[in-house]
Amino acid sequence: MILVTGAAGQLGRSVVEHLLARVPAHRIVAAVRHPEKVADLAARGVVVRRADYDHPEDWPAALQGVRKVLLISGPEVGTRIRHHRTVVEAAAASGSVWLMAYTSMLRADTTEVPYASEDRETERLIRESRVPYVFLRHGWYTENYTMNAGYAVHEGKLYGCAKSGRISGASRIDYAEAAATVLTAVGQIRPVYELAGDESFTLSEVAAEISRQSGRSVEYVDLPEEDYRALLESYGLSNGLSSTLALADTGAANGDVYSESKDLSNLIGRPTTSLATAVEIALAGGEQTS
Ligand SMILES: NC(=O)c1ccc[n+]([C@@H]2O[C@H](COP(=O)([O-])OP(=O)(O)OC[C@H]3O[C@@H](n4cnc5c(N)ncnc54)[C@H](OP(=O)(O)O)[C@@H]3O)[C@@H](O)[C@H]2O)c1
Repeated sequence: MILVTGAAGQLGRSVVEHLLARVPAHRIVAAVRHPEKVADLAARGVVVRRADYDHPEDWPAALQGVRKVLLISGPEVGTRIRHHRTVVEAAAASGSVWLMAYTSMLRADTTEVPYASEDRETERLIRESRVPYVFLRHGWYTENYTMNAGYAVHEGKLYGCAKSGRISGASRIDYAEAAATVLTAVGQIRPVYELAGDESFTLSEVAAEISRQSGRSVEYVDLPEEDYRALLESYGLSNGLSSTLALADTGAANGDVYSESKDLSNLIGRPTTSLATAVEIALAGGEQTS
C-alpha cells in the first residue's frame, strides 16, 4: 500500500488523484486528521486512516501494511521538524515501509531560504532512519502568485517583495504527478530530484500576464519585506503564514528558487504547466487537481 500524508490538502488530494490513475484505490491510504474531509475518496475505495502529526500514537495503525510513504511537508513553519519526526520514526519502526518519499525544498542542502532548515533537518532524520528514501525537492508553486489574480485585477496591483528575482515555478498538479510517478515507478529511482518549472518568471511578468488575459491594467508593486508581511496580515493571514510568504519572496529575490533542472518535466513526461495556463485557470476561479 502507498500512504499519502496531508491527503486532505491541495497537494495531497492531487497526488491521490494521480495515484488513482495508476493503482487500484484499495492500495492507496489517505492519512488525514479529519476523515470526514475525504469522504469522497473513501467512497471511491481509497483507504482513509486518521493520523495527526500531533498524535504519534495514531501512526503505527495508520502505517499497517504500508510499503511506501509520501510525507508531504506540514503547512506550519516552526512545528514541522516535530511533526515530520513523528512520521519518520513510525515508518522506521513499522518494519513494512521500504520507501519514504518527502516533499522537500529546492536545493534544500544549500538554499538560504531561512525555513529550509526544517527541510534540511527532515532530510537528515530520514537519512538516519535507514529507510530507503527519495527527496522530491519542490520549487515554488506557481499558484502562490496566481491565486490572487482576481484580486490583482480588481486592485490593478500585484504586491510582493521578490524584486526582479526569477522563479522557476510549476503547478501543484505537476509536483503531484511527479510524486505519483515516483511512488509507482517499477525501475530505478534516484534519491534526490530537484523539481522546478521549465519556465521561469518574475512577479512583473506575472502581473503582465494577468493584464494580458484580463484586459485590465495590473502593475507589480515591490514592497520591503516587512511591509509586504504587514500587508498580508492586514488581509487576515496569520502572522506565521504572512512571514513565510514574505520570506519565500525574499528567497525568490535572492535567486533561491531559480533553477534550470528539468527533473520535473522529465519525470512527468511533459512540459510543466506554463504561467499563462496557471493564470488562465486562476482567472476562471479554478484549481486543477488532476
Ligand atoms: N513550494 C511551495 O511553493 C509551497 C507552497 C505551499 C505549500 N508548500 C508546502 O507543501 C505542503 C502541501 O501544500 P498544500 O498546498 O497541499 O497545503 P494545504 O492545502 O494547506 O494542506 C496541508 C495539509 O496538512 C494537513 N495538516 C496540518 N496539520 C496537520 C496535523 N497536525 N496532522 C496531520 N495533518 C495535518 C492539513 O490537514 P487539514 O485538511 O485537516 O487542515 C492539510 O490537509 C504544505 O504543507 C507546505 O509545507 C509549498
